[in-house]
Amino acid sequence: MFTSADLLEKFNKYLSNLVFGKKPENLYEPIRYALALGGKRIRPLLLLMAYNLYRDDVDSILSQAAGIEVYHNYSLLHDDVMDKSDLRRGKPTVYKRWGESTAILAGDAMLVMAYRLMTGSGGRYVGSVMRLFNETAMEICEGQQLDMDFETRSDVYEHEYLEMIRLKTSVLLACGLKVGALLAEASEDDSRMLYDFGINLGIAFQLKDDLLDVYGDPKVFGKPIGGDILCNKKTYLLIQALRRGNVSQVKELEKWMGAKQYNPQEKIKSVTELFNQIGVRALCEDKIEHYTLMAELNLQTVNVPEEKKVVLQDMMRQLMHREV
Ligand code: IPE
Ligand code: IPE
Ligand code: MG
Ligand code: MG
Ligand code: MG
Repeated sequence: MFTSADLLEKFNKYLSNLVFGKKPENLYEPIRYALALGGKRIRPLLLLMAYNLYRDDVDSILSQAAGIEVYHNYSLLHDDVMDKSDLRRGKPTVYKRWGESTAILAGDAMLVMAYRLMTGSGGRYVGSVMRLFNETAMEICEGQQLDMDFETRSDVYEHEYLEMIRLKTSVLLACGLKVGALLAEASEDDSRMLYDFGINLGIAFQLKDDLLDVYGDPKVFGKPIGGDILCNKKTYLLIQALRRGNVSQVKELEKWMGAKQYNPQEKIKSVTELFNQIGVRALCEDKIEHYTLMAELNLQTVNVPEEKKVVLQDMMRQLMHREV
């Protein structure tokens, strides 16, 4: 049984030894840059932790762990173009540094690499792993499209938002856990429960990401604070503010959402002030707690000794209290 730090060390070592290609330099340099920027590495960790509930030879599945992380980083390259985001992990995004075209193409190449890594050297479970991975990748596209569609709507319901974040974020965490379980030959019940654990964990995780986008510490968060406000993202905070604000507060929010020309810092400040007045931060925190609890219940039903679940429980609690 490995600790989270052991798994992270193994993973980072494996990833840094992978050679993605050399020429053209303008294709591979941004890829190396993105992957070397780090990040929390939660998806490969979840995959390795799920496997490690059943088996100890985690080195045999580092290729799949790398596959899911390269996939995640590909999705971020494209996401930063879509969200016009200049900063990630405290550094300029690939899109900002090399331009949109490079971010698109480097992202495409990373997607191909992700598939190559996820296939590994074949083996008995490659069919089921790739079926799940394909399905997940398609769902993420659906979630990302809904996220963009919602930017121009002001009548998004909470259930629509929850479904959108399930698709764009949760299914990848759930996929990582289930791939780990499949490769370890866990029972069907356990694989399903670990998947559901990932879904609830992912919803809490994205709610927290949306919260940090407004209330995070700019020196720590590594992404621009207020980016979601500028894009009119229908986050839980905005949906609740539109639903619970009084007439003049809602009018003010709608004014900012419809504004064509504005000072970005002024828009962020005013909308945040409205969020504070309406009190949506606490509602979002309650929701995070709710989904974390649901995830905890899912984990309880996984049929392995309790002491083996501690790494996953710790990871879940850390993610919910994170500042980055
Ligand atoms: C960012 O994911 C995208 C979301 C789904 C919120 P992470 O917060 O896992 O990003 P890194 O990899 O740790 O930077
Ligand atoms: C990103 O959601 C989800 C995917 C990349 C699929 P966000 O747009 O909230 O992620 P950040 O905040 O840019 O990391
Ligand atoms: Mg986005
Ligand atoms: Mg984004
Ligand atoms: Mg975000």
